[in-house]
Amino acid sequence: MDLGIKGRRAIVCASSRGLGRGCAEKLAEAGVHLTLNGRSEEPLRTLARDLGERYGVDVRYVAADVTTEAGREALLTAEPDPDILVNNAGGPPAGLWSDWGRAEWLKAIEANMLTPILLTSAVLPGMLERGWGRVVNITSASVKSPIPQLGLSNASRSGLTGFVAGTARQVAYRNVIINNLLPGPHATDRIEALVENTARQQGISKTEARDGVVSAIPARRLGTAEEFGATCAFLCSVHAGFIVGQNILLDGGAFNSTMG
Ligand SMILES: NC(=O)c1ccc[n+]([C@@H]2O[C@H](COP(=O)([O-])OP(=O)(O)OC[C@H]3O[C@@H](n4cnc5c(N)ncnc54)[C@H](OP(=O)(O)O)[C@@H]3O)[C@@H](O)[C@H]2O)c1
Repeated sequence: MDLGIKGRRAIVCASSRGLGRGCAEKLAEAGVHLTLNGRSEEPLRTLARDLGERYGVDVRYVAADVTTEAGREALLTAEPDPDILVNNAGGPPAGLWSDWGRAEWLKAIEANMLTPILLTSAVLPGMLERGWGRVVNITSASVKSPIPQLGLSNASRSGLTGFVAGTARQVAYRNVIINNLLPGPHATDRIEALVENTARQQGISKTEARDGVVSAIPARRLGTAEEFGATCAFLCSVHAGFIVGQNILLDGGAFNSTMG
């Protein structure tokens, strides 16, 4: 299927590895010029060269912490008028409600709520003026079904979800489309860190902890960054203009529900 976005320009935050990278690769495959992001420069340089050579698109990168004002400014300076914005950042640490004070809460809110809200707010005026735009937020299945040890994630991402629910409906009239993608367990470095944490807490091996995660997924496997990226690219496509303010769960059926 032709996604109809060849030649469009995208910022893909936190995209040197994992789910963000999956999104960047599929957008590049669709002919989208990219601005990549991550904190370490080397993987970005390698990925930018690789995607540029493979797909013939312009690929820039900004090595910066997207959860800081300076990082967000650097991204918007590199690509001031993106047609597509994929919001992403590292997830907050696991723990217990009693571990977290004001500083931990502010950090999680800055990273997983305010950063995507501020970047979206910065690019919306240009998208509205041009009459075309796509914003996809990588959130988490924890927004729909809380993961107790990820309270910082459950709460901060729910705040972002509330922002999207209202704002998506205010900008759709100009073909500016905002949606959230909710990953369940995917095979990335992030899931490995969480598996390690579970193994330590429960005194079991990493393999046992990983098997525990997989056995709770009807598809009996972890998701891949590639299939996640393909869904993201579709949401950024010309075909997704009537999908407004939705929370799309990619979890292999783990959330048990007849509907919604
Ligand atoms: N994988 C899953 O199963 C899963 C499930 C639910 C939710 N999620 C959420 O989805 C998001 C992506 O997860 P993932 O599995 O793709 O993680 P990942 O494999 O650990 O990759 C994280 C990527 O983000 C970059 N990054 C991290 N913090 C950053 C920051 N402050 N500024 C800029 N770049 C940053 C990393 O590069 P550098 O390290 O160089 O900065 C890397 O490219 C996370 O928020 C995660 O919590 C993941």
